[in-house]
Amino acid sequence: MAAAAARDRVKRRAPGALDLAASALVSVLPRRLEPAISQARLDARMLVDGLRGERVPAFSTHASPAIPPTPLGDIHPLELVLPRPLAERYVSMRRDVSMVLRELRGDRAPHLIRRDRARERSVVAATTIPTVLTRTLEVVRVVEETADARTFVLRDVSGAALDFTPGQFLTLHVAIDGVSYRRAYSISSSTSDRAVCITVKRIAGGRVSSHLVEHVRAGDRLTAHGPSGSFVVPSSVGARHLVLVAGGSGITPIASIVRDVLANDPRSRLTLVYGNRSEADTIFGDELDALARTHAERFSIVHVVEHPARDGRHVRGIPDRETIGRVIEEHALLVAREGEEPALVMTCGPGPMMTAVRHAFTARGVPDARILEERFLSPGDPRGRARATAPQLVTLRTRAGVRDVEVDPDQTVLEAALARGVTLPFSCQMGGCGACRVRGSGELVMDEPNCLSEAERREGYVLSCVCRALGPATIETGDTR
Ligand code: FES
Repeated sequence: MAAAAARDRVKRRAPGALDLAASALVSVLPRRLEPAISQARLDARMLVDGLRGERVPAFSTHASPAIPPTPLGDIHPLELVLPRPLAERYVSMRRDVSMVLRELRGDRAPHLIRRDRARERSVVAATTIPTVLTRTLEVVRVVEETADARTFVLRDVSGAALDFTPGQFLTLHVAIDGVSYRRAYSISSSTSDRAVCITVKRIAGGRVSSHLVEHVRAGDRLTAHGPSGSFVVPSSVGARHLVLVAGGSGITPIASIVRDVLANDPRSRLTLVYGNRSEADTIFGDELDALARTHAERFSIVHVVEHPARDGRHVRGIPDRETIGRVIEEHALLVAREGEEPALVMTCGPGPMMTAVRHAFTARGVPDARILEERFLSPGDPRGRARATAPQLVTLRTRAGVRDVEVDPDQTVLEAALARGVTLPFSCQMGGCGACRVRGSGELVMDEPNCLSEAERREGYVLSCVCRALGPATIETGDTR
């Protein structure tokens, strides 16, 4: 799932000329170029902001949410100047033309895919999810990393590239015994690798992780959407030190970042503080140690192991505030080399560990804004959810106008809106990132747990991706105010 640090991110920066130009380029060039165009846009925008003396938060924290630019796909240049009724038609036409173009380019699967039921034996799509949101991935290979962790090597069956930024995740839609679950799994491979991989660790009582680890094999298909997420290394023009702190399976986005930075960003050096119960539980342990030997000038690892088999090589203990503080001091993690920016801290792992990381670094003068977290939460069991018995009418007030849509009992408001061509913002689709936050009134109920704070609930916000209608309701996006 997505970063809790991004939970407040609903405020988007209005598109400017650079964004419009990038959007126009993306609509005519091959899809594989989109990440490069998007990155160039962000770099150019930061430069322009800097020249203008505008400092926009580049990092997302609890105290200071990032204000990201509007995603390229959400920018409709003509929509900004057309009268509202024409704008709505334009958006609809643009979407249709874009889908036809993408199919002609081979960028996405055709709408009608012949079902091969034999191959869908273990993992199937949830039937209520609009196909426009998802992609079908084939498991090319399964790698046993530890007794409980598997890496799944994936390819999009349509042949489309799986473009991502290291640190992002895929949200899997998994049906088990007729019940649909969603879970986010970070991509563990580098953009330089030929394949895209996710790594899943079986957790106690985890229905989806157990299902994936125990039953999914090469040749099976997974329904997913994404890549999504904002736990990525911000662009920078100077030399810098990335301090990465991972616990257990929290290594997956961090491993992607390590591999990618070592391969593609010679200005950055990395220190990884990696906590595990034992050496046998250490995912990617041998590979990361080998990378540290190969790139000794730029990459070092401090293993923190609760029950080490050998003494001396590892720090014995758990990555709590005291241990992390000791590692910071003994390994001089905050001492910058000449010409280097102050350290940027990125952490992913159990909640208590990330809280300890934040305390240990802020106590030593690291600003909140330079500590990035990736927090995953597991949505509750869908079998206990309240459901309507019949479709309900929900009024959607968006920048494009007012539209009534029917929301089926097993649909979320987001699914219903997108299936009917109404554009709403979203990312993780499982209540974890806050990207889909909208104002809601009427008979709405949200799946729990999710990342919406009590204050946000009191102010009338809901998350459309986990929001269901039990009766008539209204949803309003912030841009209509
Ligand atoms: S909370 Fe992430 S898309 Fe809804």
